[in-house]
Amino acid sequence: MTTPILELRNVNKSFGPIDVLHDISMKVHAGEVLCLLGDNGAGKSTLIKTLAGVYKPNSGEVLMDGNPVDFSGPRDAQRMGISTVHQFGGTFPLMSIGRSFFIGAEPTKGFGPFKVYDRKKANEIAVKAVQGFGITRIDDGDRLIGGLSGGERQSLAIARAVHFGARVLILDEPTAALGVKQASHVLRIVLEARRRGIAVIFITHQVTHAIAVGDHFAVLIRGAVAANFRKGERSREEITDLMAGGEALADLGAEVESYMATHDGHPPPVPAK
Ligand SMILES: Nc1ncnc2c1ncn2[C@@H]1O[C@H](COP(=O)(O)OP(=O)(O)OP(=O)(O)O)[C@@H](O)[C@H]1O
Ligand SMILES: [Mg+2]
Repeated sequence: MTTPILELRNVNKSFGPIDVLHDISMKVHAGEVLCLLGDNGAGKSTLIKTLAGVYKPNSGEVLMDGNPVDFSGPRDAQRMGISTVHQFGGTFPLMSIGRSFFIGAEPTKGFGPFKVYDRKKANEIAVKAVQGFGITRIDDGDRLIGGLSGGERQSLAIARAVHFGARVLILDEPTAALGVKQASHVLRIVLEARRRGIAVIFITHQVTHAIAVGDHFAVLIRGAVAANFRKGERSREEITDLMAGGEALADLGAEVESYMATHDGHPPPVPAK
């Protein structure tokens, strides 16, 4: 077995008295997509922020290539090849594609010194990188980010991370706000990143999207890994149930049904908080 690019061992994270992550262990290998599933508030964002150097774990270890790492901050993690793409691609609507591609980028990585902004060259490189991911509709680097669709923005952000040397790509709900067609574009890009040997950590609420691209799955419930399995080991229904805390919902269903049976088909009143 190869060494995972990134691994968490028994990580705990709390904010003051609030325990958010409990004893999390997980790993991701090169060329693999790890889907991180879990309901609102399960701790997904906290977990990836811990992976990306934003938070330090209270206990436990983060390892890269088998060696313990202690990131001093997100830039440190990024320098080591961990890139996070946030929802909406994290770019500015009034900026051109070419400009946004190079903003905040390490000027010496990927290509030569770029001290003076060379619009033509920036556009060329940005468009080439995006097209390399199969998004051929982006062919003009002068276009503004604001004019791109949500899927195109995500695609651009992923292409950019890969261009600047990401080895681990963390995608926080990249398909959440997208329609079917756009989501499938983004999923294809995830697969292309995987083909290029990048380790992808893909966070989503949408089981269908996870199943389409995932090699490994981890379900977080209240800050703990409630299930951890490989592609094909669980059915879609089982995964959905796990995510929704299936048992609680099944109980609710039974309760509603029995109420309706004795109340002329009326659903029970919503309980006051
Ligand atoms: N800085 C913080 N201080 C205190 N509590 C926090 C902090 N950040 C997160 N939490 C708490 O930790 C829990 C997990 O939050 P987190 O944002 O990681 O969940 P999530 O799985 O990403 O949810 P969502 O699907 O809604 O994005 C929540 O109860 C949240 O209130
Ligand atoms: Mg979140």
